[in-house]
Amino acid sequence: MAQPALIPSRREAAPAERTSHDELLAGLTAAEAAISPKYFYNALGSKLFEAICALPEYYPTRTEAAIFAAHQQAMAQAIGQGCTLIDLGAGNCAKAAALFEALQPQQYVPVDISTDFLHQSVAGLQERFPQLPMLPLAMDFSATLALPETVRQQRRLFFYPGSSLGNFDPRQALDFLRRVRAALPLGASDGGILIGLDLVKDARVLEAAYDDAIGVTAAFNLNLLNHVNGLIGADFSPRDWRHVAFYNGRQQRIEMHLEARRDLIVRWPGGRRTFHQGERIHTEYSHKFTEQDILGLLDEAGFGNCRLWFDQRRWFAVCHAQAR
Ligand code: AVJ
Repeated sequence: MAQPALIPSRREAAPAERTSHDELLAGLTAAEAAISPKYFYNALGSKLFEAICALPEYYPTRTEAAIFAAHQQAMAQAIGQGCTLIDLGAGNCAKAAALFEALQPQQYVPVDISTDFLHQSVAGLQERFPQLPMLPLAMDFSATLALPETVRQQRRLFFYPGSSLGNFDPRQALDFLRRVRAALPLGASDGGILIGLDLVKDARVLEAAYDDAIGVTAAFNLNLLNHVNGLIGADFSPRDWRHVAFYNGRQQRIEMHLEARRDLIVRWPGGRRTFHQGERIHTEYSHKFTEQDILGLLDEAGFGNCRLWFDQRRWFAVCHAQAR
């Protein structure tokens, strides 16, 4: 016989809320505690990430912008004009906006998990570009790339800058790129991807970028705890935690963790967990790539005709590839 349905005592959570709630609890109670980096981006977290991008140590944003500036015309030629520009993790939309003139998109579709921040950014942008149709989508694109029918199918260009792909482990990164390929409905060479990826380099340069002198990245990492408190009603005290970031050369990635400064207990409705001094919660991977890694991943995901552009120090790469 079927189980009787449980009678909900409170308002029933929307499916998205329920998944994030379950996902957070699963991570917090795992033997090696973890919180997904997508929870960095509440309203304050999005602002702290903007501040990170302005830090002297955080070279990726600046380096990538210089590559776009230097190679805009070649990129526009490879991409062609009039694309449907789908901006994954748009944030303040500044990176895409810098390409509008060269690319002349027909439609701009910024996608971001940080709803209010996204809508504010688009409101400002629409004033600067009144002619360009904009369709902001507040969604977790790491969970699904099912786009509404109002997103044009023709000439889709998935724009995924900033080395955000590095948040996934290599297996998930491949799966994600395959989902992007599957979201190009018109097939070979009608659509493509424009992706920015951070390259393997000296560990000291990498570690400074994720552990800056004035503590903005530490604040970004610790803010996660405030966000999680709000999402699941936990009682994390950020003062009890320390930002840890280091380069794991074997796995080719920066790892960020939060480390307990003392023995403590974290409580939430229906549960709790003890953390011992020195115990860590994993919060982010930021994988770094070689040129071979990039070409191999895109090929395996179903993309071809790859073109790569670099800065002079070869610290960062921008790649355009077509569906094949
Ligand atoms: C937005 C994921 C690309 O990994 O460099 C910056 C996030 N974390 N400093 C990165 C981040 C710490 C960033 N991504």
